[in-house]
Amino acid sequence: MSVLSSTFKEHLKNFNLDLGQKAGITRKSAQSKYGLERLHKMSSNENPLGPSPKAMEAIRAAIPFIHEYGFKSDHDFIHALAMHFDHRLAPDQYITGNGALEVLELLAQTFLGPGLECICSTPSFHIYEMFGQVTGSVVKSIPLKPNYIDLDLDAIFRAINDKTRLIIINNPNNPIGSVIPKSQIDILVDNVPDHVIIVHDEVYFHFLAEENFSWAMDYIEQGRHVVGLHSFSKGFGMAGIRLGYGFSTPEISRYLRKTVRPFKINTLSMVAGLAALKDTDHIKKSQRVISEGKAYLNAQFDEMGIKYYPSHTNFILFRSPGPVKEVIEYLMLHGVMVRSGEINGARGCIRVTIGLPDANEAFVQACKHYMKLD
Ligand SMILES: Cc1ncc(COP(=O)(O)O)c(C=O)c1O
Repeated sequence: MSVLSSTFKEHLKNFNLDLGQKAGITRKSAQSKYGLERLHKMSSNENPLGPSPKAMEAIRAAIPFIHEYGFKSDHDFIHALAMHFDHRLAPDQYITGNGALEVLELLAQTFLGPGLECICSTPSFHIYEMFGQVTGSVVKSIPLKPNYIDLDLDAIFRAINDKTRLIIINNPNNPIGSVIPKSQIDILVDNVPDHVIIVHDEVYFHFLAEENFSWAMDYIEQGRHVVGLHSFSKGFGMAGIRLGYGFSTPEISRYLRKTVRPFKINTLSMVAGLAALKDTDHIKKSQRVISEGKAYLNAQFDEMGIKYYPSHTNFILFRSPGPVKEVIEYLMLHGVMVRSGEINGARGCIRVTIGLPDANEAFVQACKHYMKLD
């Protein structure tokens, strides 16, 4: 055995989450693997309208200047975020990252470590567990109630102890699309011990159809130990630019900012984010496309007799009409890429991202064909 084996961190030795497999495949590799000229990519909850035209314009204008270290810090961006949210929080209460994922990584790095614990409610975004484990922490997964809506609050409170640092809640939930009733998040926020931070990942918030929602910002304004997570990958249609942010109380944000390196966010992401924040037309258009596509797909699921979970997001989780792998492969061969719900803990389910009408129709046709309904 190499001498480096003892240099390599002990808790990472058995760590192999096969992320490549779990993160899904890109359009290009799916097309080349399955020999598909055309592919409807309905697998990663991206915005089918693409990025804001204003963001694309801002990127084009910034390209000649990328030889320079354009942004030493995220100063301009956090000020724009503070303004975007009507100055409810101060600029330095926002923490930017290369996607919400990097903010999660920063949370894990700042608050977790060997001997400490993190609680996640499942099914939910599987990567939460990875960030906990990579720091050497114990990750406790507490299943949602069988309706896939309600938190199992009793089990969560039983799991909390002196070592608990983070409770990560995904709301609206990926892969289910459901919203946890605000009354339950209120109970959680009101009753967790002071040393515990609740991370409220609300990256799908643009597609919410729920007025009484447990916004992280409301709790933060009350001084609660909550961190909200937002992303430019979903509503803003810029998954490839890798931009997201967290926000929290002045104290928690200060801890998170301690290890942030200079020049973390690249110039093109920064200018794209600044432009996208102002492009309310693009957001409205995206919300309309998703809500129309959702109504169409829900009606089609009803017609095909497929059970689905009512969604507050830009995707729908449905019970697979056959073995999950077989159905996914069948749809892929018919030019439609969807995602197994099982990766995120929803057994027997498939998740389809709502697309433009032609993609939605191609998905329905392929399902009907598989079920011999056509
Ligand atoms: C619940 C949830 N949180 C975070 C992310 C990642 O966001 P980002 O692309 O900003 O890193 C995703 C991506 O699918 C997600 O579903």
